[in-house]
Amino acid sequence: MKTFYIETFGCQMNAHDSEKVVGTLVQQGYAQVETPDQAELVVYNTCSIRDKAEQKVFHRLQQFKKEAGKGKVFAVIGCVAQQEGERIFERAPHVSLVAGSASYTKLPQMLVQLEAGNRRVTGLSLDTDEAFDTPFTRRDNPHRAYITIIEGCDKSCAYCVVPFTRGPERSRTSDSVMREAKDLAAHGYTEVQLLGQNVNSYRDPSETGWDFARLLENVGNIPGMRRVRFTTSHPRDFVKEIIDAIDRNQALCNHVHLPVQSGSNRVLAAMQRQYTRDEYMRRIEWMKSVNRDIAITTDIIVGFPGETERDFDETLDLIGTVEYDSMFIFKYSKRPNTAALQYEDQIPEDEKTRRLIVVQEKQRAIQIRRNAVYVGRTEEVHVEGYNKATSQWIGRTSQNKTLNFVHAPLPAPDSGRTLVGDYLDVLVTRAGPNSLAGESVAGHVVLQ
Ligand code: SAH
Ligand code: SF4
Ligand code: F3S
Repeated sequence: MKTFYIETFGCQMNAHDSEKVVGTLVQQGYAQVETPDQAELVVYNTCSIRDKAEQKVFHRLQQFKKEAGKGKVFAVIGCVAQQEGERIFERAPHVSLVAGSASYTKLPQMLVQLEAGNRRVTGLSLDTDEAFDTPFTRRDNPHRAYITIIEGCDKSCAYCVVPFTRGPERSRTSDSVMREAKDLAAHGYTEVQLLGQNVNSYRDPSETGWDFARLLENVGNIPGMRRVRFTTSHPRDFVKEIIDAIDRNQALCNHVHLPVQSGSNRVLAAMQRQYTRDEYMRRIEWMKSVNRDIAITTDIIVGFPGETERDFDETLDLIGTVEYDSMFIFKYSKRPNTAALQYEDQIPEDEKTRRLIVVQEKQRAIQIRRNAVYVGRTEEVHVEGYNKATSQWIGRTSQNKTLNFVHAPLPAPDSGRTLVGDYLDVLVTRAGPNSLAGESVAGHVVLQ
């Protein structure tokens, strides 16, 4: 039996790609092992979004340099593979396969070449109109599943490598997405997350012609589907119909991740984000005006080239106005091929760090306030795990907040009974900046 080990970096798209790659490898007669030492084929599924992410894979490859040739073969796939291409063979000569995500449909053929002893196998073409669709996906979680609905990105944000690493947008047909979602529900999945770099520019290529809101609503209507999430949305393509669908249908989670990046129109224009602060705020107002209490999260980049103190203040002001439930904050990182690489007025590293900390502190105070509102409320959680150290179960609310809770009638999972995958009502008794804590409400418990 041939063995492989895979390590995945980056976003949910990559995590899900790895589930498909694992399925494909298993289908080709490979068995997955837990450590690189045990494996004949070592696969790194890489991320290139910031320089630090890119460096990780080269560190890993360095660690195992001596092992190459002793029957061990290395593969670099994903975004760094697409970006660096054959240069990877020069930087790390022990790598034998370099393939970007647009080539995964050709993995079986590439494996045949590897097995035939070819030490320079590549899959680097972005010239595709297909999404990687395979019946062999090996999902890591039996309750919560990812479904890719659209791949690639047609935007051209001045800082971002994704259009270069993932190629042009390709939507799957609504028929194939619905088939996959129904099949998941039939296999006991109750939660799905629709994935795309730009989910809401989804456009059904078949005659059905659904837009994203229609697709979302239809997935939410599948019997047995209790929670539907989606990520990531681009503000420019974010239409009111999406919010209306969430407001109508409880199965659609009341959480929207809408990356703003900056609160300054000047910086947004330099970033080529294709929306203004006002246009972004209109979308926030839609979310705040409906009946359901929609949690809003975002991504912020600090220290984009040319970002003045005044621009930065506008970002702080926007954060204060929106009052996000959570956010990812990044220091701008120079990326190959991108427009911003040529921009003047790069911000010094220590100034970027200072701005990052200022945003973190402001946001922390907001999260403490926002989370405190939940104390005394009962929230439904989908149970994800158990923390032995604290003897608490870990659940997630529809709003995507982590809610740790005690469940008195049931002992720890060593008892052979688990709550993982169940939905429970939990009374929130405490709140911190990053999570809630509480106790399950007796009488609402469905034991497996
Ligand atoms: N497709 C999504 C997000 C893609 S990457 C979108 O358009 O919103 C996830 C986040 O990484 C981005 O939202 C951005 O905040 C951050 N990011 C992307 N490129 C970056 C760079 N060069 N430096 C710092 N952060 C970056
Ligand atoms: Fe990158 Fe912009 Fe595309 Fe998002 S929309 S993946 S930030 S280019
Ligand atoms: Fe990284 Fe590629 Fe995702 S660059 S964030 S793994 S699309």
